[in-house]
Amino acid sequence: MQDETAPKFTSSFKKEVYQGLTAYPKYLSSKYIYDKAGDKLFQDIMAMPSYYLTDTEFSILEKHKEAIASYFSNGNSFFHLIEMGAGDGKKTKILLRHFTEKNIDFTFKPIDISQNALDSLKQNLLREIPQLKTEPLQGTYFETLETLHFSSGERKVILFLGSNIGNLLHEQAIDFLSKVKGYMQPNDLLFIGFDQKKNPQTILDAYNDQSGITAAFNKNLLVRINRELHADFNLDNFIHWEVYDPETGTAKSFLVSKENQKVRISDLNLDISFEAWETIHTEISQKYDDKTVQWLAKKSGLQVITEFTDSKNYYKNYLFKKSI
Ligand code: AVJ
Repeated sequence: MQDETAPKFTSSFKKEVYQGLTAYPKYLSSKYIYDKAGDKLFQDIMAMPSYYLTDTEFSILEKHKEAIASYFSNGNSFFHLIEMGAGDGKKTKILLRHFTEKNIDFTFKPIDISQNALDSLKQNLLREIPQLKTEPLQGTYFETLETLHFSSGERKVILFLGSNIGNLLHEQAIDFLSKVKGYMQPNDLLFIGFDQKKNPQTILDAYNDQSGITAAFNKNLLVRINRELHADFNLDNFIHWEVYDPETGTAKSFLVSKENQKVRISDLNLDISFEAWETIHTEISQKYDDKTVQWLAKKSGLQVITEFTDSKNYYKNYLFKKSI
């Protein structure tokens, strides 16, 4: 039977905003932070010295590019390098340039939801690495992977960098990894960046900068709801709050209401009440250790082949294959 009172939604953004803000406790998904302004704020985050993740993964790829090349090319056989969430490709370029210089036989297939990001990436790569064969694919990861059909001899190497996996709860990560595994053949590889547990202060500082960039990034969710759903969130009435639990390795972001307030979201025909100090949970940034990664792999039908890290063990890139 159809519930007459259940609202019908014309987009998943509307639906998820409605569900998250009428739930208790309230929540919103961090994936909606990334519009044009959100992408720019994330670029600013990556440039902050306290946000060590980007520079650290960069240094790992630089330090280990020879070994990575030899795993990927597996005795110099051709492969498709597929990157999920390519963004501006800054880190991937280290590998692309090295592979090209070494005459390694591969194609680069960046997948991204943003056609805009893919267009500028393609232009940039044409300029910087003209010999590279780039075939951008616009769409969500799995819809796009689904459209790729290779002949049986062609190997795939799938990249998922930036500790983007950290936005997923373990259960969601297992679901994600199991799906990726479903697209893999026995000789295919999966290469993923996982930010590691470390001094809790270092982690907190990465997500709690004094300049307010991360706060603006987090609040961009409200900016987007204001603009796209005609709402009247007053940004000054919320504070960005970060916590890190060193036992579970979970960093959590919140927006906290500073006072009793009502917000109108016209396009949802919805009034939301906040009590003073009520929270909206907006993001998790999970931190890992070897045990947890081994456990996730096992649960997903994957096997760790090797791992690469930096001098401080802040971050690790693990190479996986399908387990037999
Ligand atoms: C893009 C998901 C890896 O969680 O570290 C940065 C996003 N959030 N600062 C992360 C983010 C706040 C970032 N990821």
